[in-house]
Amino acid sequence: MKIDYLYKDGEQKFLKILNKSKKSNILQDVVNLLYKMFEKYSWVGIYIVKDNNLILGPWKGRQATDHNKIPIGKGICGFAAKTGKTELINNVNTDKRYLACFISTKSEIVVPIKRNDIVIGEIDIDSDKKDGFNQKDSVFLESLAANRTFIKLIDDYEA
Ligand code: SME
Repeated sequence: MKIDYLYKDGEQKFLKILNKSKKSNILQDVVNLLYKMFEKYSWVGIYIVKDNNLILGPWKGRQATDHNKIPIGKGICGFAAKTGKTELINNVNTDKRYLACFISTKSEIVVPIKRNDIVIGEIDIDSDKKDGFNQKDSVFLESLAANRTFIKLIDDYEA
């Protein structure tokens, strides 16, 4: 399967999930979809901003993380929540901000989800591959994060 096609297919499947009539478990279905479709996505999670912290919501991966609650400003996740900008880390071991979750993780991408320019959550993905993420991943994930129905689901999620 051609890689560009995979992103297009991913977006279409994402939109299909959002349009499901049964509105429960949609965010879990979204993380499951990303984890299943992209082999290099080794762990996929959604964090929700609550007070001054990021609280872990739905996730999919081989292992659970101990980082269920991350203060805004801490780690790559907390940094992205503070700046509102995507963080693409090619090699987590050379980034001092990195909060280690899994020994196998080599690279990470964090994409903030915003409502009216305010960060309300984020998509956090770890890869066991070094340089696991590129511009196509950030464009793809940012387009998911900008979807209005998705933003509403994040807003309504009880963290
Ligand atoms: N590595 C993240 C913490 C979350 S785990 O990857 C699930 C960070 O540095 O903020």
